[in-house]
Amino acid sequence: MLKIDLTSAAGFLPDDWFSSREAGLAQARTMLRDHSGPGGDFTGWVRLPEEYDREEFARIQAAAEKIRSDSQVLVVVGIGGSYLGARAVIELMGSADHRLARNAPEIFFAGNGLSTDALCELIDYLKDKDFSVNVISKSGTTTEPAVAFRIFKALLEERYGREGARGRIYATTDARKGALKGLADSEGYETFVVPDAVGGRYSVLTAVGLLPIAAAGIDAAALMEGAREAMEALDVPGADNPAWQYAAARNALYGAGKAIELLVGYEPSFRFFAEWWKQLYGESEGKEGRGLFPASVEFTADLHSMGQYIQQGARILMETVVRFRTSRRELLVPHDPDNVDGLNFLSGKSLQFVAEQAMRGTLLAHVDGGVPNLVVEAEARDERTIGQLIYFFEYACGLSGYLLGVNPFDQPGVEAYKQNMFALLGKPGFEARRAELELRL
Ligand code: PA5
Repeated sequence: MLKIDLTSAAGFLPDDWFSSREAGLAQARTMLRDHSGPGGDFTGWVRLPEEYDREEFARIQAAAEKIRSDSQVLVVVGIGGSYLGARAVIELMGSADHRLARNAPEIFFAGNGLSTDALCELIDYLKDKDFSVNVISKSGTTTEPAVAFRIFKALLEERYGREGARGRIYATTDARKGALKGLADSEGYETFVVPDAVGGRYSVLTAVGLLPIAAAGIDAAALMEGAREAMEALDVPGADNPAWQYAAARNALYGAGKAIELLVGYEPSFRFFAEWWKQLYGESEGKEGRGLFPASVEFTADLHSMGQYIQQGARILMETVVRFRTSRRELLVPHDPDNVDGLNFLSGKSLQFVAEQAMRGTLLAHVDGGVPNLVVEAEARDERTIGQLIYFFEYACGLSGYLLGVNPFDQPGVEAYKQNMFALLGKPGFEARRAELELRL
């Protein structure tokens, strides 16, 4: 199981950082277990790694197998919680540029923005490729994926005919309601369910994440197993629980004036895991004028850009480093008899060793500069560990939100832009708001 090392935060934490929060954590644990806290209707993810629908899981595996056999590309259409988890896992297991095992289809993500050029580039790329589409939307009414899906549905129907397209479209949505559910039922698409009790940002271990993940050739069962291990380990109350430690430490640092938490990764493939984490913590805690602002950096690259600010800018930062103990392969620095670059002191050393020293040096420098560091120690970059990481951050986020005194499972703030966009687009029912907005623009 993963661990959290608090050594590099100790000097910044008050003596009672844990003891003064222990009762709050125990209460948060009970609320998550019993679904009795604010937003309790959306805590279905807490037992998910054990209680997931096995029948649907088998259908996901079968659909993934079919996609792998008949498609060179899978286009995953979705945004926010219906997008980031799948991309986080697929990139973290593979690489930052989507390339995975050779026998797996390429996975592209669409409907996560409104860029004409990005969509056209993907459409061009698909011209000579067999492809399938997994459209994911819990509400079924989100504008970005709905517009993109319309485009890909038309493309598929043009290429394969309506019947052929039907066999290449997979819809992940609400079990009963919404426009996408209605469309999927009337067209006869295979559907998968976003459970009622699981909100978007907690949905990566449902069909929302699992179908694209399995289609990419990743072992979804091992991912769930890792999450289950974490679920069991993190249910044990007390000071040794890494989720309790993380939630208490970041809450104490927030109380001590740290306003921004930087999630730090040392793997380029970690980039979208950080994006997923940002949504998880940003939407869960950023409300009622409260919450650490979640941001991310990629080291060592960003040490050559953001490193200056981290070392000497406003002292409002804390860092949470996710460290994988092992790399998958070994690469040694070669010996050069001429040694013109003066690097022979590294000859024969592994790149992993160099990276380790960079990490240790950075940690000390940032602590000296006034930035507390928490280090999440994970094993290898594999499915099981990633399952543990997902559950760890989800569970700690639930605890953390309750410690902060907010409902970690709603997101009322994201409605404001949607209402304005609907009005400006001329959606029926938004006429009065449109008139009011147009006057202001
Ligand atoms: O966390 C959330 O609720 C959001 O990020 C949603 O996942 C996002 O807006 C997409 O919503 P939907 O799945 O309904 O299309």
